[in-house]
Amino acid sequence: MNIEQTLSIIKPNAVKKNIIGFIESRLEQARFNIVAIKMIHLTREQAEGFYAEHEGKAFFDRLITFMTSGPVVVQVLEAENAISRYREIMGATDLSKALAGTLRYDFADNVTENAVHGSDSVESAEREIAYFFANNEIFSNY
Ligand code: TYD
Ligand code: MG
Repeated sequence: MNIEQTLSIIKPNAVKKNIIGFIESRLEQARFNIVAIKMIHLTREQAEGFYAEHEGKAFFDRLITFMTSGPVVVQVLEAENAISRYREIMGATDLSKALAGTLRYDFADNVTENAVHGSDSVESAEREIAYFFANNEIFSNY
């Protein structure tokens, strides 16, 4: 068993659509355990630090403005192969490339306002989880 934790964000456009419960239900049906969760409104500094790898790119400012436009849900998902499996359920970054049945296909508005975030590797998952949660806020089943 390769149990992993991944950092998931339900982004401002998805929160505004009133589909938090719907997304959580899809994740629970797919056997992800939600082991940490909170709702926060990111400051620009917080969003810029989280997305530091994208600083300098053409879309960076648009991304930060969007991510600070309203509250988000940040959460830790735990499951076997959680990192790649959650990326599959999210779908491609660009809505036009997202497969039917993925969260982004259903809920993204465009490439920037793409409804959900998921860590892309073990290293980024560790960094991103620690960015939002202290160890005693994560309730692992293992
Ligand atoms: P990235 O890490 O490449 O995508 P993912 O969220 O799938 O890991 O990019 C981070 C976010 O930046 C992405 O979710 C939306 C935004 N973004 C744009 O607005 N335009 C772009 O062309 C790209 C690549 C990303
Ligand atoms: Mg990414």
